[in-house]
Amino acid sequence: MIKINNNITVIGLGYVGSTVASCLADVGFHVICVEKDEEKVKRINERRSPINNMKFDAIFGKYGGDRLIATTDLDYAIKNSCISFVCVNTPIKDENKIDTSDVEATVSNIGKSISKIDDFHVIVIKSTILPRTSENLIIPRLEQNSKKDVVKDFGIVVNPEFLREGNEIDDFTKPDRIVIGEMIEDKRSGDILIEIYKKMIASGTPIIRTDLCTAEMIKYVSNAFLATKISFSNEIGNYCKLLGIDVYNVMNAVGLDHRVSSDYLNAGVGFGGPCLEKDLLALIGCGTEIQYEPRLLNAVKDVNDDQPRRMIDLLESKLNGLKGKKIAVLGLAFKPGTDDVRGSRAIPLIKMLLKRDAIVKAYDPLAIERMRLVDSIGPVEYVDNIDDALKDVQGCLIVTEWPEFKQISDKMDNIIVIEGRRVLNDKLNANCEGICW
Ligand SMILES: NC(=O)c1ccc[n+]([C@@H]2O[C@H](COP(=O)([O-])OP(=O)(O)OC[C@H]3O[C@@H](n4cnc5c(N)ncnc54)[C@H](O)[C@@H]3O)[C@@H](O)[C@H]2O)c1
Repeated sequence: MIKINNNITVIGLGYVGSTVASCLADVGFHVICVEKDEEKVKRINERRSPINNMKFDAIFGKYGGDRLIATTDLDYAIKNSCISFVCVNTPIKDENKIDTSDVEATVSNIGKSISKIDDFHVIVIKSTILPRTSENLIIPRLEQNSKKDVVKDFGIVVNPEFLREGNEIDDFTKPDRIVIGEMIEDKRSGDILIEIYKKMIASGTPIIRTDLCTAEMIKYVSNAFLATKISFSNEIGNYCKLLGIDVYNVMNAVGLDHRVSSDYLNAGVGFGGPCLEKDLLALIGCGTEIQYEPRLLNAVKDVNDDQPRRMIDLLESKLNGLKGKKIAVLGLAFKPGTDDVRGSRAIPLIKMLLKRDAIVKAYDPLAIERMRLVDSIGPVEYVDNIDDALKDVQGCLIVTEWPEFKQISDKMDNIIVIEGRRVLNDKLNANCEGICW
């Protein structure tokens, strides 16, 4: 019989960690949130969400300081819980290599904390990690620092997360599948995780139990496939535009084939965000290390990298040059419903506009503060409403499909509008054009 202590540790309170912690608290667990950012710790204990998101504001408002407590003290958390979810970031660094330093530091510290307890502890890796990372890095760091043995003294599960920002809670509680990577000798840890999930995840959800390395690969392949669908749609979009065909009519029909499915077929300025691009690059980098050149994945990246350039070229040709022209960029978040600007297409677009000597104004309902922190973005005038963004500009790029951008039609006289997403249902006027429609 598996006995689950009611206290659970969640380490790293970003988008994934905040979702895991919120959903666990909502079904009655006591969650100890461990975060290295003291400002986030303070916010949680003051009943405020660690990330900028209205749904999380409500949950942290309800349980913060009570069922959701936060600390920087990992020893305290491990001592008082039976299972820890590792949700720290794994960003991309140079040469398509992932930076596992946060994961490495976290599991080394977990190891030290485990050395001070007697009970079996389960470590669930939700961070996205390349195949063999748990075997070659995580388990050795845990064993070295705890002076204990995996399987006997602690367990490890690789449980990749597939949520989409803006839809975090629904995606987490109603996933298409749960992937559990485990060691052959240790079914106990996976069983404990499933017991916890049974309390909050829709019954009937397929559970795939596999080895650690396969679970790590499933996450990368899922994201690489989604990225491929988008780049494929963009390539077809570029084609269709030259042929005078509406790519949305084409892809809508193609997506009705159940073998294809209609998701991720919207042509536009390309994918961004904290995952698709980073995970694609990491998989490409992994190919280099094992001496395999992933030609298709490289092409997916190339098509994506080229879409912003196509958008700027179109604007430049319509305006007869960009030098000295004032351009509004509408949308900085990589998608609506989040303030996250990691990998946002607005970043290369703004950099290209500035390089071509345009003057840039930018507006986003949520993401301005995050964009101000992006290194080397250059001189941008940030404004806090659409009207100010469109005042005295000659051109406008629509980059994020925020619903409020649908309302701009009456403000667009004499402005060249290039849509990077299909926000406006109808072409506003002769001055309005889509990147690939
Ligand atoms: N954001 C998404 O949509 C998403 C979806 C699925 C999977 N993922 C994966 O999940 C992981 C987390 O992504 P995220 O977007 O939530 O990251 P994030 O950058 O939003 O959050 C990571 C948090 O971890 C904290 N942290 C880092 N090192 C720490 C340490 N040693 N101790 C305590 N806290 C520490 C950081 O301060 C930060 O608050 C990544 O591997 C990512 O690829 C993300």
